[in-house]
Amino acid sequence: MLKGRNLIDPMDFTTEELEEVFKTADKIIENPKDFAHVCDGKLLATLFYEPSTRTRLSFEAAMLRLGGQVLGFSQASSSSVSKGESVMDTVRTVACYADIVAMRHPKEGAPKVGAMKSDIPVINAGDGGHQHPTQTLTDLLTIRCIKGNLSNLTIGLCGDLKFGRTVHSLIKAMSRYKNNKFILISPNELKVPDYITKEVLEKNNIEYREVEKLEDVIDELDILYMTRVQRERFFNEEDYIRLKDSYILDSEKMEKAKKDMIVLHPLPRVNEIAYEVDDDPRACYFKQAKYGMYVRMALISKLLGVDK
Ligand code: CP
Repeated sequence: MLKGRNLIDPMDFTTEELEEVFKTADKIIENPKDFAHVCDGKLLATLFYEPSTRTRLSFEAAMLRLGGQVLGFSQASSSSVSKGESVMDTVRTVACYADIVAMRHPKEGAPKVGAMKSDIPVINAGDGGHQHPTQTLTDLLTIRCIKGNLSNLTIGLCGDLKFGRTVHSLIKAMSRYKNNKFILISPNELKVPDYITKEVLEKNNIEYREVEKLEDVIDELDILYMTRVQRERFFNEEDYIRLKDSYILDSEKMEKAKKDMIVLHPLPRVNEIAYEVDDDPRACYFKQAKYGMYVRMALISKLLGVDK
């Protein structure tokens, strides 16, 4: 039962509960009209303390397509946070006006703190370099719809695996499905943190390799998950400039990949996928953005208990 729950960490839901969300997303994709009024009279608050295009707008589009309405802010400076109000008090106040909250914050753990005194569901829409559970739902729904299952896959994650919160959430989530293998492709300085390799992969005996060159492994992959080097999380601009173009996926590299490999990217991209790759049928990152809206529609319906 997902009604009334929060989604703070991708592991908050069991795989069975995730499947419930995906089945609702399947129904929405097949018959969106059936869901056009399930949230009539309901309000979603989007509290975004950090910039966003996809997450905020797909949440808003999701609620509007369910018949509900949206309020909120897209930068901390336009809220009373600028006067020193705490996240906990902000969410407690917003819970007086809205039925559900989606929050993005630069500090790890902020949505969890916000949820502590909230009597409406709180969804983590990204907290610092930590987690991004609704991007994970997006990624899983995309893989499930395009590859047909979530098991027996070799998944390459490439780029900034240190600061990329979507990567951490995806590894955790895909580790729960059978026979998945990971190839972690990054410069030494941007490797996946130990709390993921040791606590998630090694503890669960999941096969993984860490490599530096994409060309050496691209032919092994079923999924290539590209990521942007996260400029906003670097302490030093020189390091960012040195590392920002470590990987650029282009048509030449795609020639070495399997014919049914898919390329995903949470977006936004900067330079890491050349525009020429967009025309390759294996480039699925814009489809992925659309699945993001459907899965958020399903999630809102489930947390509000209004799904069919
Ligand atoms: N994928 C993602 O989180 O994009 P935004 O930062 O634009 O929301």
